[in-house]
Amino acid sequence: MPESILRVRIPGLDLVHPVMNASGILGYEPEHIDRMYRWGLSAIVTKTITPTPRRGYEAPIIIELPSGGFLNAVGLANPGKERIPDIVSACRRIGLPVVVSVGGTSENEFLDVASIAEESGANAVELNLSCPHTKGYGMDIGSDPSNVRSVVKSVAQSLKIPVYAKLGLSDNVVKSSEKALEAGATGLTLINTVKAMYVDVHSLKPVLTNVMGGLSGPPIHPIAVRVVYEVYRELKPVIIGVGGIYDWRSAAELIAVGASALQIGSMLALKGKEIVAEVLRGLERWVREKGAKNISELVGAALRS
Ligand SMILES: Cc1cc2nc3c(=O)[nH]c(=O)nc-3n(C[C@H](O)[C@H](O)[C@H](O)COP(=O)(O)O)c2cc1C
Repeated sequence: MPESILRVRIPGLDLVHPVMNASGILGYEPEHIDRMYRWGLSAIVTKTITPTPRRGYEAPIIIELPSGGFLNAVGLANPGKERIPDIVSACRRIGLPVVVSVGGTSENEFLDVASIAEESGANAVELNLSCPHTKGYGMDIGSDPSNVRSVVKSVAQSLKIPVYAKLGLSDNVVKSSEKALEAGATGLTLINTVKAMYVDVHSLKPVLTNVMGGLSGPPIHPIAVRVVYEVYRELKPVIIGVGGIYDWRSAAELIAVGASALQIGSMLALKGKEIVAEVLRGLERWVREKGAKNISELVGAALRS
């Protein structure tokens, strides 16, 4: 049987097509997992899990912006590492590969959560080194390339499953990417939300309780394209591209600058299976139009033309 032109194989993940959910968009209750299966995603990425449960910030934690996109500061609310086995087996039951997103404040915390993910049967882990709004986590670690190196090294040398480092917008993103790969990361997920804020001019107060949050959705897409392009140009790693995908064309753009697979966050939350179907239909047409046999032939094509 001829292989589907959208089939993608990246380390740890044999995907029927390139589109997964982005971490934080559903992903830790069994009913979320069933819903994502019905929406037609090719793999499930969990919410970032930390060693102990976190309640996150008080509402409002997410707003839709008049300028487009969303601003969120959820504060990494999650059920903690004890729930990982349940989440992984719920995904396994429906036959979807699962990537556990791992959070922590130190090498030991990352290793602790990642080890449980591996023991539970996850296909891969994604280290959240880029959440821009939770003190001591994410970007507080990931913006310093030497921290990226030590966290990735400690996890990658202990685990057998692939380790993806999720990095975000910082002046050091190319350097951090390089350090992550040197330290043993199998690939990179680029990018996370972009630190931003929104002020209500009537109350004269920031709208989010945390004051600052992460911007997501279409406004960050050109930033994601630039970051994926630059990192791919310099290092040619396996990249999972994420940031502002809102239609098939914006998805294709990330593939063209070097992403091998994709994640959709905000627009998935807003449109559900409609966006997955639209992206897949459009990507299939695009691959045929380009005369390629498989979408992987178009990875990084914009850097060759
Ligand atoms: C409500 C919300 C929660 C998120 N939670 C996480 C998270 O737990 N871990 C993580 O790595 N990224 C998290 N993200 C970032 C997304 O995974 C993604 O990188 C970002 O939203 C950009 O993609 P998008 O523009 O398609 O939404 C979250 C985003 C949103 C909007």
